[in-house]
Amino acid sequence: MRAKILIVDDVLSIRELLEIFLKKEGYEVTSSPDAEQALQLAKTVDLDLIISDIRMANMTGIDLLREVRDQGFNGQFILLTAYADAETAIQALKMGAYDYIQKTENFIEELKLVVAGALENRRLREENTYLRREFRKLHGMGNLIGKSQKMQELFKMIEVVSATASTILVTGESGTGKELVAKAIHLNSPRADCQFVSVNCGAFTETLLESELFGYVKGSFTGAATNKKGLFEVADKGTIFLDEIGETSPAMQVKLLRVLQERVIRRVGGTEEIPVDVRIIAATNRNLPAMVAEGQFREDLYYRISVIPLEIPPLRHRRDDIPLLANHFLSRLNSSMGRGIRRLSDEALKRIEAYGWPGNVRELENAIERAFILETSEELSAKHLPESVAGSKPRTPVAIPDDGFSLEDYVESLQKSYLEEALRRSNGVQVKAAELLKMTYRSFRHYMQKYNIEI
Ligand SMILES: Nc1ncnc2c1ncn2[C@@H]1O[C@H](COP(=O)(O)OP(=O)(O)OP(=O)(O)O)[C@@H](O)[C@H]1O
Ligand SMILES: [Mg+2]
Repeated sequence: MRAKILIVDDVLSIRELLEIFLKKEGYEVTSSPDAEQALQLAKTVDLDLIISDIRMANMTGIDLLREVRDQGFNGQFILLTAYADAETAIQALKMGAYDYIQKTENFIEELKLVVAGALENRRLREENTYLRREFRKLHGMGNLIGKSQKMQELFKMIEVVSATASTILVTGESGTGKELVAKAIHLNSPRADCQFVSVNCGAFTETLLESELFGYVKGSFTGAATNKKGLFEVADKGTIFLDEIGETSPAMQVKLLRVLQERVIRRVGGTEEIPVDVRIIAATNRNLPAMVAEGQFREDLYYRISVIPLEIPPLRHRRDDIPLLANHFLSRLNSSMGRGIRRLSDEALKRIEAYGWPGNVRELENAIERAFILETSEELSAKHLPESVAGSKPRTPVAIPDDGFSLEDYVESLQKSYLEEALRRSNGVQVKAAELLKMTYRSFRHYMQKYNIEI
């Protein structure tokens, strides 16, 4: 689509000149001799750019800029001046003008570049807003699914901590959703419009991780051909997610501690202290207190990062969430792959609910995806679930008293009761009783003797 530009200038010859020139450049151009008319136009036409003279009869270009902004105009604004007037120019930039151009002899060439730059900048800005909105749709709390009491409590916590700037430690087994929780915190926080930067601390060697996080200055090591910003700087005003923080080396732990304490970083090979305003969320599936006890993780760093600990329970401890998540993944796959597999078969649901999900939500997500791809009917059947899931037997609910109990004694008493019951049902005919319990007569006799059962 062609960009729409409005020219505002009280001099007819300038308007004509610009109009002809910009049309030739391929833009859709209108013009107006004064600011009042321009204001009206900006209300009705969806303009991408206004180019306005500063000195005009009733209303200056600066006033026009202020008023269109008040009116809600969010396109670009370029000012033209007849004289070099630094004061006014600075004022204009402060008020959100993209640039100003002095009407010198060859200003048309300069204008061409500035207009192209302004429009590109606007395009990127819009694209960015769009992407952020999409990102939010995908990762907002709306996408963090869970109806179990434990998850509901976690959601409440997320809401509370999002508003603060405190450092957060997210713990939980692999695949429980630590990264998703970190994103949800970011998106619910006042920092949502700045970056969420995720770093997997376990994926880099120590030196690489250092230059990733803190950047480097030109010439600090072979291959450092230019200065490079580190991720802490990229995440400025936003959030940095330090995943697998338990994997960091002792030297790295010291450096992280310093950032947490002083909120400044130093690029590799640099001397300058660069302040950073970053919210830190760390995550681990390791047992940090145990690592502290064994001297593998710095205690002072542990206390710094665990200001607010958030623990995500494993999926097997919030079984209510299993069918909910399974259906969520199913409907997401339907919309992304354009298929019509509307439900899980009863058998599939039974298996899914019975399984222990050691790989947590990620394992469930993968299992559903795999079955979805292989499914040819309109119902997701159990036969395409991974073998481990499909073979899972419904669980018998059990409880263990706090002070423990003897499983062997319990099993024996249970066995004895079943033997007696079977005998009662078969009127003392031992062959029949053995059959009822799907045992051989021999082993039935064996247990009768063992438990001293008399007929
Ligand atoms: N509550 C949830 N609702 C919806 N999707 C979830 C939920 N929890 C996890 N997921 C999904 O499960 C997958 C694993 O989540 P995530 O990567 O956040 O886990 P993790 O704890 O960081 O795992 P790891 O320790 O292996 O890095 C992701 O695809 C994520 O979208
Ligand atoms: Mg993760």
